[in-house]
Amino acid sequence: MAQDISLGEDDKWLAPIADSLRALAKDVRFNFHALPISQGASLHGTLCKEKYRKIFSEDVLKFETTVTGKHFDTFFFAESCIQKSEKMAAELFGANGTLFITAGTTAANQIALNALYKNGHKVLLDRNCHQSLHFSLNMLRAEVSYLTPNWSCHATGMRAWDVDALLANCLAAQESGAGFDLIILNAHSYDGLVHSIPRVLAHLLNNGVKTRNFLIDEAWGAANYFCDILSEHAALNIEELQESHPDLNIVVTHSSHKSLSCLRQASMVHYRGDGSVLEKLRISRFRLHTTSPSYPILASLDLARAQMQAEGWELRKEARHLAESFKHEIITNPQFQSLSIDLPMVPRSAASHVIHDPTKIPLNTERLAISTEEIKDYLFLHHGIYVNRITEKSMLLNFHIGITKEATVALLAALSDLLHQEGMSAQAVTSTDYIIPYPPGVPLIVPGDQITAETHREIDNIRKRGILVFNA
Ligand SMILES: Cc1ncc(COP(=O)(O)O)c(C=O)c1O
Repeated sequence: MAQDISLGEDDKWLAPIADSLRALAKDVRFNFHALPISQGASLHGTLCKEKYRKIFSEDVLKFETTVTGKHFDTFFFAESCIQKSEKMAAELFGANGTLFITAGTTAANQIALNALYKNGHKVLLDRNCHQSLHFSLNMLRAEVSYLTPNWSCHATGMRAWDVDALLANCLAAQESGAGFDLIILNAHSYDGLVHSIPRVLAHLLNNGVKTRNFLIDEAWGAANYFCDILSEHAALNIEELQESHPDLNIVVTHSSHKSLSCLRQASMVHYRGDGSVLEKLRISRFRLHTTSPSYPILASLDLARAQMQAEGWELRKEARHLAESFKHEIITNPQFQSLSIDLPMVPRSAASHVIHDPTKIPLNTERLAISTEEIKDYLFLHHGIYVNRITEKSMLLNFHIGITKEATVALLAALSDLLHQEGMSAQAVTSTDYIIPYPPGVPLIVPGDQITAETHREIDNIRKRGILVFNA
């Protein structure tokens, strides 16, 4: 029988699922249920085995297993290590209960929605919400009204809504006799704008809104619970509000792999409210979740939770410190004067409940002659640095808990290198050739003309329109 085994660490590092899985891997010799890949058993001395080993170590395959019941635990009806770990997660995040999901928040949102929504419900949906919520509501044929962001920043792509607009929307619906049964909000945007859910909910409930069911997508926000600036704004921090409104039910989804040390895809669904919500969430998970939960992913949820419990505040502090030092360097070092940090001011009407995540840095590159797409490629191809989100003018740098000092130094060095290259290409040279876009075949440059940064940009734009550009 698998038991908790620890590595002799103190209690705060206890990880019931991971520890039981390690014990289980020692107990199972042969598995007559399923998963041929378990312990690499189906890969008899083949090249395939070698390739497998190179990508996943043999150790990972030991933990791919299917054992359930008293020898481990049963995901949907957990009684031992999974139940224990979910309880520890609930305590850590300040929830009344937590369910683990071995899938992304696309699925977690669907599970949460199916638990809270009943046929005929009127739903208010923040338009900023992820597609999973739009599609699920569409499939349920729900009657949906939209909360539209009333502020946006073109340079960064950030968008926010105003709590008074939300309040007016709710009260108008109530007055027309069709108040919202469920309100769905996005708490933390991809680009780092955090809506303070405790403040938003307090504002609504204290001003006569009667809705009591809220679904909050906080996919990017699990690490916020350990941040000195953001923790008070995290969605589950509504203890006081719940005391004055005991009928309040709030379900919060976290895409745990986005900000914690979890394998992809791992999510948590937390709730605060009466026990009936937990029951509905359990049923919904039972209906929608794969019946083959991944044990390595469960163990990673357990370990990520243990890590945040033990050192979450320090990790987040270090991430913030690195983000600050990066910002400082960009602002003060003259070699970076053509770059800037684009932290737009939110309007006064939103300032009370919208906060910037200090670890998400939008780097403005609009004064460079090359596009953000080209900068993104340059960083990747020449320095092995990957950024994902870019707009026409800026790129988003996410200083998550995996970003180290070495990574920050490497990023600054890569930007310095980029600016040096750009400076060289920005120096005008005298052309000895013709440069001719075809069609129409009319020279853009003739011998003797100056080729400037502006010329390079123009050539790029012409090529992007699918026109060939010849040097002759
Ligand atoms: C706000 C938000 N919610 C949900 C999701 C879906 O999460 P996952 O990719 O884990 O399915 C995303 C993905 O980017 C997201 O940004």
